[in-house]
Amino acid sequence: MKSFLNDYSIWLTENENPVLQNVRRETNLKVLMPRMLSGHFQGVLLEMISKMIKPKSILELGTFTGYSAICLAKGLSSNGKLHTIEFNDELEIFIKKNIKKSGLENKIKYYIGDALEIIPDFTFQFDLVFIDADKRSYLKYYYAVFDKVAPNGFIIVDNVFWDGKVLEEIKKNDLYTKGVVEFNNFIKNDDRVEKITLPIRDGLMILRKK
Ligand SMILES: C[S@@+](CC[C@H](N)C(=O)[O-])C[C@H]1O[C@@H](n2cnc3c(N)ncnc32)[C@H](O)[C@@H]1O
Repeated sequence: MKSFLNDYSIWLTENENPVLQNVRRETNLKVLMPRMLSGHFQGVLLEMISKMIKPKSILELGTFTGYSAICLAKGLSSNGKLHTIEFNDELEIFIKKNIKKSGLENKIKYYIGDALEIIPDFTFQFDLVFIDADKRSYLKYYYAVFDKVAPNGFIIVDNVFWDGKVLEEIKKNDLYTKGVVEFNNFIKNDDRVEKITLPIRDGLMILRKK
């Protein structure tokens, strides 16, 4: 029943647009660990959230091949800009090509490097931040971006379920699960934000800075 309802909710969701379909297909064919990409259902959700907020500025940590950047950028206000940071320089050719194909070149600026080194250079605030980079550093990203989020701004965090491992006993050397659990526990007690966690895909958390 659950999987029928899952299919039904996808059926009742916007189709994946051809550019994004192409990004997903090519990522699957040519890039390691393609399942890191947000994908159709979550992509439509990110686009919808961005369209609801109409942000002037978005920051994304973890571009990968550009799928979620394209989805989020679709909701920017008319002069808005999305800034996205990717650590792996081998992905640059895909990022550049995919942004070009999306027709959003003038709205998306990408940076190749470590988000933790680049974030301090931003001198303005963001209306929306999407955290989707190295799970071991989630709390560090949160600390780094917090003051750069505008009051009433939003932070979306992907993979907060980490394949269900957040509910299991953490293996000693599993720094990824440790990172996500440490982050989730911190957020649970952080009264500076309102929070909701959606059981979508690998767990999607939405925070609103008070
Ligand atoms: C889950 S993928 C991002 C998926 C993408 N947001 C999407 O939905 O299509 C995570 C990406 O974060 C990148 N990454 C890891 N650590 C990073 C860091 N410190 N700074 C910037 N990017 C990082 C990885 O190289 C990887 O491409």
